[in-house]
Amino acid sequence: MGKIKVMKAIEQVEQLNHFIENQDSLPHLFSIWKDAKLGKTCFSSSLGQEDQVLTDYIFRNSLAVDVFTLDTGRLFQETYDTLSSTVQKYKREIKCYFPNQHDVEELTVQQGVNGFYDSVKKRKTCCSVRKILPLKRALANQSVWITGLRREQSQNRSDCSIFEYDAQFEIIKFNPLLNWTHKEIINYLDDHNVPQNKLHNKGYVSIGCAPCTRAVSPEEDHRAGRWWWETSQKECGLHKSNN
Ligand code: ADX
Ligand code: SF4
Repeated sequence: MGKIKVMKAIEQVEQLNHFIENQDSLPHLFSIWKDAKLGKTCFSSSLGQEDQVLTDYIFRNSLAVDVFTLDTGRLFQETYDTLSSTVQKYKREIKCYFPNQHDVEELTVQQGVNGFYDSVKKRKTCCSVRKILPLKRALANQSVWITGLRREQSQNRSDCSIFEYDAQFEIIKFNPLLNWTHKEIINYLDDHNVPQNKLHNKGYVSIGCAPCTRAVSPEEDHRAGRWWWETSQKECGLHKSNN
């Protein structure tokens, strides 16, 4: 994106955030998004609880949003079951983006199939091949990227804005659930009878790839089960991190 376009996008997000005026209900936020006519919009769903709220809202209101998921090839069977039951319930497409086959073959030659346990560097290389590069493909030709990020999830995320410009992916990011609590997410899912990953009943809260996610105990941080063997800030590069 050229410098002028970037400046315009930054100005646009400031204006959009100004319109929110402490009223961050989904209908209000999506009406701001719709009225702004920002262009093609997509939503990345991991099939997690936050994302299932947004999928339900987008599909029930027939919003013009392309919904996709990044299938890393290392997801839990329960996550595929959630994907399948969601598509069946709403009868709408959730497109799967896969990693490039040659990149995965090279990755496993270089660091083996479980290299991510060896070092943060190797783990980030795996995340890059299996998530970041496919995400770049999914975001190409899109103007807005909707995510299910919540402020409460981590220190990094507490600094996010509902509308922001993402310099890494050169796109306007829209985080409609930024101020929601986990309890509000659960209430929405129950009230609207939304399909959920069965692992949530087994102590899993934040769910990513199977080898990199474990269940957490009630007193633990929700993201403690992600890359649990690391002391890093537990981001895979999809969302900006301070480390
Ligand atoms: S992660 O960066 O640690 O993996 P997290 O699981 O908290 O992210 O999800 C945050 C947001 O990133 C989700 O709401 C979703 O928009 C996006 N996301 C994460 N994983 C995926 C995935 N596999 N496919 C699509 N979107 C994803
Ligand atoms: Fe690879 Fe684990 Fe990252 Fe998934 S979460 S892409 S398996 S390192």
